[in-house]
Amino acid sequence: MTTPQVKQQTGIGGLPLVRIETPWSMAEVYLQGATVTHFQKHGEPPLLFLSAKSRFEKDAPIRGGIPVIFPWFGKPEGKPAQHGSVRTRQWDFVESKTQADGNVTARFRLPASADLPSIVVEYVVTVGQSLCAELIVTNNSKSEFTFENCLHTYFTVGDISQTNVSGLKGVEYLDAMDNFTRKTEREDAIRFTCETDRVYFNTPHTTEIHDAALRRTIRVEKENSVSTVVWNPWIEKAKRMADYGDEEYKTMVCVESGNVRSEAIRLAPGGTSSLKVKMSSVL
Ligand code: BG6
Repeated sequence: MTTPQVKQQTGIGGLPLVRIETPWSMAEVYLQGATVTHFQKHGEPPLLFLSAKSRFEKDAPIRGGIPVIFPWFGKPEGKPAQHGSVRTRQWDFVESKTQADGNVTARFRLPASADLPSIVVEYVVTVGQSLCAELIVTNNSKSEFTFENCLHTYFTVGDISQTNVSGLKGVEYLDAMDNFTRKTEREDAIRFTCETDRVYFNTPHTTEIHDAALRRTIRVEKENSVSTVVWNPWIEKAKRMADYGDEEYKTMVCVESGNVRSEAIRLAPGGTSSLKVKMSSVL
């Protein structure tokens, strides 16, 4: 069995990363956005999708893995960028620890910045037989802090036409492809036949991605996340995205865990909020 190892390395585009090896798996986290770009269990295909056309450039989001969306989701009016301000920033690697069970925990912190005064943002990634990501926000200011968060997770699938997502039946969602109309999910399992971009509300529960081509089920379990975003750009949007391959929509699906739109978090002075997502797979 491999002994756990944590190494700081230079990755694509000269960007720094932390590489974590455990007896069961391997992961990589770029400091740019604290983006987990890779998690793979031995003997399995990668769990996370990473675009072959992703930019690995300073100040650009990485296309794939788990971009951290905070403190806003999407592009609300008056905000300078899509999906918040931290997915393009360089985070600090604070420390790593090997737990008694062999899992490795790596801790990252967002450097203090003028746009988030008195807000401490930490990110803890635990690598083992599964992947766990925890975004911890502490409000050290004297006033309430309202924010959205989302772990924008890109999962690898073998073939999107043989993939479905279960666990959202009966749930209300906003359909971005239909002028943000509010609808109720009627399907036991969501299938993909066109561009899909939805925010499901009041979903603290587990969802599963059933991937017939890879004969794998991915399970997404979460704590303190009530919103679930399901996204696949499909053919035309894939072509419009410069940092995404034209055919890559066939081999990925985003199932994102967070608290967005009407489910934004209101954090009292002195309060801490922790969004936690566990991603695991069975062949
Ligand atoms: C999803 C949104 O979360 O992210 C989509 O619901 C968006 O509307 C997608 O297209 C990708 O966003 P970006 O900014 O990374 O291209």
